[in-house]
Amino acid sequence: MTKILILGSEGFLGSVLTPYLLKNNVHFEITGVDKCFFGMNNKRNKKFKFYKKDYNQLSKNFFQKFEIIIDLVNISNDPASELNKRFTYQTNYTNKLKLYSKIKNLKNISRYIYMSSCSVYGNNKNLINEKSKPKPISLYSKLCLKYEKYLKKNKKIPFTIMRLGTLYGWSDRMRYDIAINKILRDMIYLKKVEILGGTQLRFFCYNKFACETINKIINDKSKITFNKIFNVGNFNTNIINLSKKILKLTKVKNVSIFHETNTIDKRSYEVSIKSSKIINNNINFSKFTNNSIIETFKNIKIDKKPFLKKKITLSVYKDYLNKYEK
Ligand SMILES: NC(=O)c1ccc[n+]([C@@H]2O[C@H](COP(=O)([O-])OP(=O)(O)OC[C@H]3O[C@@H](n4cnc5c(N)ncnc54)[C@H](O)[C@@H]3O)[C@@H](O)[C@H]2O)c1
Repeated sequence: MTKILILGSEGFLGSVLTPYLLKNNVHFEITGVDKCFFGMNNKRNKKFKFYKKDYNQLSKNFFQKFEIIIDLVNISNDPASELNKRFTYQTNYTNKLKLYSKIKNLKNISRYIYMSSCSVYGNNKNLINEKSKPKPISLYSKLCLKYEKYLKKNKKIPFTIMRLGTLYGWSDRMRYDIAINKILRDMIYLKKVEILGGTQLRFFCYNKFACETINKIINDKSKITFNKIFNVGNFNTNIINLSKKILKLTKVKNVSIFHETNTIDKRSYEVSIKSSKIINNNINFSKFTNNSIIETFKNIKIDKKPFLKKKITLSVYKDYLNKYEK
């Protein structure tokens, strides 16, 4: 049995990744840890144990059981990261250093996989690859980059850093604060889409594509993914073309598009999918992308509560911080 620890297992990605890894690897046993800001979303079963805890409360002993750690914990949304900077700094950086000092000398751990973000590229005019100079804008992306640098410097445990594009797709911890999911929801239920800015380029990553890439990285026996950074995603587009593409694929009728040229979101970057292609060499990327958008559309269409407050990251952290972190 390969024993895997997923920190942040109940989040948007974790709620898809946990069943995905169990389904595709009969020899995996997964333990999840999450503070459950968005509830508990994975079903417990013989091969999945769960602890509702702050990852900072885990003792050094706790980590002795695992071979692979997948770290998905972050306050992972630009506006949410700015709500209480001290809280974000602690969750996304200082407590990660404490985590690292607990695990760095443990011989049982063969891999630490950290989920960073392509938003570290900020506003960048050239086609980005892993060698491009990051220019992070928000506190969230600055801390992603800061922790990446720490991991690269320390190298006590083989690491893999995945810089994900903006995620989309269905999850039992649904997020409608990410572009494609929001556009689809608003097209279906409001018959209107508001485009902010619109010309900014963005790199997108289907959540199941991220899961498959993690799966390949975990099972990489050749070690080519050790101590490396990978940009991970399946397509680039600007927000105006994205809305047009979604309308064409889903064939939703009578949708009004409102275009607000001013936006506070200054990010714009286009990322080469070369690394994603190397890791996932059997995928037809444009067909996969179209199918993934249609699959997401079908799932959102049957969401019984698409406007639940819990499905917006900013609202959940706002309530939590007002209550506990004055
Ligand atoms: N969603 C995206 O578009 C996107 C894009 C790029 C990178 N990423 C990265 O992928 C990872 C997962 O993102 P996501 O969209 O699933 O985010 P998410 O907010 O849905 O999941 C994060 C999980 O971490 C948990 N958590 C937060 N603080 C914790 C703590 N102190 N102790 C234990 N658990 C804690 C939350 O309860 C949540 O379930 C993050 O590292 C994020 O930076 C996400």
